[in-house]
Amino acid sequence: MKQPLRVAVTGAAGNISYAMLFRIASGEMLGKDQPVILQLLEITPALDALKGVVMELEDCAFPLLAGVVQTDDASVAFKDADYALLVGARPRGPGMERKDLLEANAAIFSAQGKALNDVASRDVKVLVVGNPANTNALIAQRNAPDLDPRNFTAMTRLDHNRAIAQLAEQTDSTVNDVKHMTIWGNHSSTQYPDLTACTVNGKPALDLIERDWYENTYIPSVQQRGAAIIKARGASSAASAANAAIAHMRTWALGTDENDWVSMGVYSNGEYGIAEGLIYSFPCTCSNGDWQIVDGVDVSSDFSKEKMAATEQELTEERDAVAHLLP
Ligand code: NAD
Ligand code: LMR
Repeated sequence: MKQPLRVAVTGAAGNISYAMLFRIASGEMLGKDQPVILQLLEITPALDALKGVVMELEDCAFPLLAGVVQTDDASVAFKDADYALLVGARPRGPGMERKDLLEANAAIFSAQGKALNDVASRDVKVLVVGNPANTNALIAQRNAPDLDPRNFTAMTRLDHNRAIAQLAEQTDSTVNDVKHMTIWGNHSSTQYPDLTACTVNGKPALDLIERDWYENTYIPSVQQRGAAIIKARGASSAASAANAAIAHMRTWALGTDENDWVSMGVYSNGEYGIAEGLIYSFPCTCSNGDWQIVDGVDVSSDFSKEKMAATEQELTEERDAVAHLLP
């Protein structure tokens, strides 16, 4: 039996966590042979609710669940963590944009970045789910100067999956037929779901759809899917977000499928001309527990340049709005 890995989850009594913890404990994230210790963080008023979630975890008698920690202290939750899923944050309600959450949630991520810096494994893999995810990841990363910036990522896998599903439906194919999807930029309504490199059953996606549908229906629909779910459900996406978080971590830990890539919000070193230091979504492959930005994707069209710059601009503005939290 392998040694257990420590998986910290914040916002552990919230909606996304309720759809996520049981799957992590059953081995869906790190593998069916990998025991895990869950280290669960909540705010003090939610500790009772968290206790109920932990009782349910116990009642599943998961063979891979080697321990559970429940705490309202980040330095306990992140102690020696190998993985950290930062979910805990206020979700947006109807009519709000994700950047409206910036002030409300930014303070959480500076404190948690510091705690990760102080007590987590030096190789901890961090995924920020709480919105605005890219800028929260940037805040956590900048508050953790002793950790490699590459350890901090933001979730755009849900956007990636939404983009695949909507394209498969339009082209009468299955999600398995769609390869090389790319989400560029921010997990927000400025994100750029780019079909330039994408194929469906080996054929260029852009040859299978009308340009007008792509620009005026598909892109806005992927960009606005989070808002559409909030409107329909009265609450933000939870099970699909949990599914994407598990997929993001699984891919990072265990690697991408051959001949495909995924979208991840990662630290920019200036790739594709994107400002250094932003957490920007790029097409990435993973192997040996590490990610690489895919090189050489065609972004030469004016359309792509404009869309990539617009979402970069939004991330720059978000960064400037939280400058006081960036050491
Ligand atoms: P929720 O309100 O159901 O749960 C959030 C939990 O976080 C609550 O239990 C709350 O007590 C806890 N929390 C708040 N502050 C905390 C702190 N400082 N430390 C630890 N826990 C804290 O919300 P949810 O539906 O689970 O969504 C969580 C976040 O995920 C929101 O910000 C939402 O917008 C975001 N989200 C992101 C994506 C994405 O694709 N990146 C998708 C869906 C939702
Ligand atoms: C989503 O994309 O579903 C989440 O980020 C929730 C939101 O605020 O859109």
